Amino acid sequence: MDVVFQVVSALNTFGISRRCEPIIGIGGGVLLDIVGFAASLYRRGIPYIRIPTTLIALVDAGIGVKTGINVGKHKNRLGTYYPPLATLLDRAFLRSLDTKHISNGLAEILKMAIVTDATLFWLLEQYGTILISSKFQDESAAPLVLYRAIHAMLAELQPNLWEQDLNRKVDFGHTFSPALEMQAVPELLHGEAVAIDMAISALLAYHRGLIDIQILDRILCLMKKLQLPLAHSLCTAEFLYEALQDTILHRDGSQRVPLPVSLGDVRFFNDITEEELATVVHTLQQLLPS
Ligand SMILES: NC(=O)c1ccc[n+]([C@@H]2O[C@H](COP(=O)([O-])OP(=O)(O)OC[C@H]3O[C@@H](n4cnc5c(N)ncnc54)[C@H](O)[C@@H]3O)[C@@H](O)[C@H]2O)c1
Repeated sequence: MDVVFQVVSALNTFGISRRCEPIIGIGGGVLLDIVGFAASLYRRGIPYIRIPTTLIALVDAGIGVKTGINVGKHKNRLGTYYPPLATLLDRAFLRSLDTKHISNGLAEILKMAIVTDATLFWLLEQYGTILISSKFQDESAAPLVLYRAIHAMLAELQPNLWEQDLNRKVDFGHTFSPALEMQAVPELLHGEAVAIDMAISALLAYHRGLIDIQILDRILCLMKKLQLPLAHSLCTAEFLYEALQDTILHRDGSQRVPLPVSLGDVRFFNDITEEELATVVHTLQQLLPS
């Protein structure tokens, strides 16, 4: 909120016109969320343009309509739905990102692959290594992977922009991760927390017989290939179940947990128990090197 006030103060000093001088946010997801939030409040809303410069911002934070800031230990506790005038996408910005932030963004691309696009999943399996080493500057796969990831995201967001339907496929990986990210900050980046949530969700799906061992293996192997974490010491069954309780409030009283039923499809579940989470945590610990 302090940074939002700094933006407001800069707009006052600049003397910005209400309608004909859009502010331009150039940066990662955090910057775009804050600038968008300030733009949505300033004089009850002034136009803004987004120029995402990180991979997460390019495929996710830059292309939806949400703005937000964290409050205390709560992720996105204040925010607005506020579409920008335009979003300008240019992968050349990614050249200067470090590998950790490339992998961080790949988590959100992998999410879209698992929930809607088996071909994208296959592309990540084939080209994940080169995407990381080239920082998305290669011509072999980067344009196609970005195109598919962004279009998959837009196809999910567009019919449900204001989230009237809270059964959202794009919430895969976002059930336990908000609490985890806020508790582990700054150690875990957003996409890394999402990745751990995806590993837990994939194991839940496997234990319920929704996906077989081959699909589970492919998901976990791809996460490793993309240099994403699968687990974190904070993730006890108690912690995850408590995180789920806050997510239930966010999802209006139901769990609505998206779990994969194949590569490219999910279904929603409302009956996850703490005992089931304990089983999954136990399995995950066995998969990790000691
Ligand atoms: N509004 C939404 O719909 C939405 C969707 C997904 C994620 N998010 C939010 O986005 C945030 C994560 O975004 P992020 O990963 O971009 O984090 P970030 O904005 O913190 O950027 C990561 C780091 O990269 C630096 N950086 C930015 N561009 C760079 C470049 N081209 N080269 C080198 N360094 C660069 C930044 O200064 C920062 O230090 C989370 O807070 C998440 O909640 C929002």
